[in-house]
Amino acid sequence: MNPLAAGADHLLVEAESVTQFTWDYEPSNTQLTRLYEKGKVSQWNATTDVDWSPDVRWGEPDPSMTDEERAMIGSFLNLDAPDSPFAGMTEEQRAVVGWELQAWMVSQFMHGEQGALVATARLVETVPDIESKYYAANQVNDEARHVEAYATYLNSKLPGHEYEISGPLEALLVDIMTEKRWDITYLGMQIMVEGLALAAFGMGNVMFNDPVIKQITDLVMRDEARHVAFGVLALKEVVPELSAAELADREEFLLEATDLMYRRFLLEQLWERLGIDVAAGKEFATTNPLMIMFRQVLFSKIVPNVNKLGLMTPRVRQCFEDLQVAQFADQLDTASEELSSLAGAESLADIARTAG
Ligand SMILES: [Fe+2]
Ligand SMILES: [Fe+2]
Repeated sequence: MNPLAAGADHLLVEAESVTQFTWDYEPSNTQLTRLYEKGKVSQWNATTDVDWSPDVRWGEPDPSMTDEERAMIGSFLNLDAPDSPFAGMTEEQRAVVGWELQAWMVSQFMHGEQGALVATARLVETVPDIESKYYAANQVNDEARHVEAYATYLNSKLPGHEYEISGPLEALLVDIMTEKRWDITYLGMQIMVEGLALAAFGMGNVMFNDPVIKQITDLVMRDEARHVAFGVLALKEVVPELSAAELADREEFLLEATDLMYRRFLLEQLWERLGIDVAAGKEFATTNPLMIMFRQVLFSKIVPNVNKLGLMTPRVRQCFEDLQVAQFADQLDTASEELSSLAGAESLADIARTAG
């Protein structure tokens, strides 16, 4: 058998990369050192820090929601409009749609987390300076735990309801992992995929139906803000040094990644599994006001970071305007947000005492 053949249960990506050793062991980026220090003391254990005991009952309506609230959401979503794919569904069927959406989101989180695991492992090799290698290694550990937690959840709580990786997410992971230039690995993974994940976890936690997934997502989110901050800190040194041609390549990559991420949230796999006409489902996802808001929230962490990095070129701005997300440009970037949480700490020992 050809060892490079793809199979149903795996994907092989061939890539060329340049491993960099450094003989300069003196950390010089204080902000990154502080972030690393926080990472070291913020580790948790998916086996013991999550209470896995609650039963998860697939298909049951969220007990924290009243019938009135459900009706209100239904009318806001225009679920009964004649062209809605949900018209004529019973409450029970609609509850199942909510569970399918949860299973789809958690499955994509798990696949995306594995992407982060392998991409940050690559960064350990390819980044030039020692503190970035330290930090990336620390993040590899975080990402392994994230994959483990989501996989354990899906296997033990939603068996049989998992989804395969979505086509656009797979295409984006392949793009990132075939890329030789380490700053594009950062841009793709730390700024785009992780930035979207950070917002998606927050939103998932409001929508999800059971206490186990809420705990996992709370723990994962604590780590993700740090990861996005790492990307911003690393790239803000790099972008000003790029030539016009190099900048144009990054712009192209960013536009492609944005398109792939936007397409993920047209929810094709969900419509297929629910037996809803895919074209009608995608039309609903494109035009429904709540779905538009949903996508806007997803980009709310990406846009300010892209702006902070100096990558908001006219084409990128136009693309964000077309997606109705350019209004987030002036919000606080994730590195400033994350570092402000360490502002009171005067020494690394202080961080070790207070973070986590
Ligand atoms: Fe993660
Ligand atoms: Fe991450």
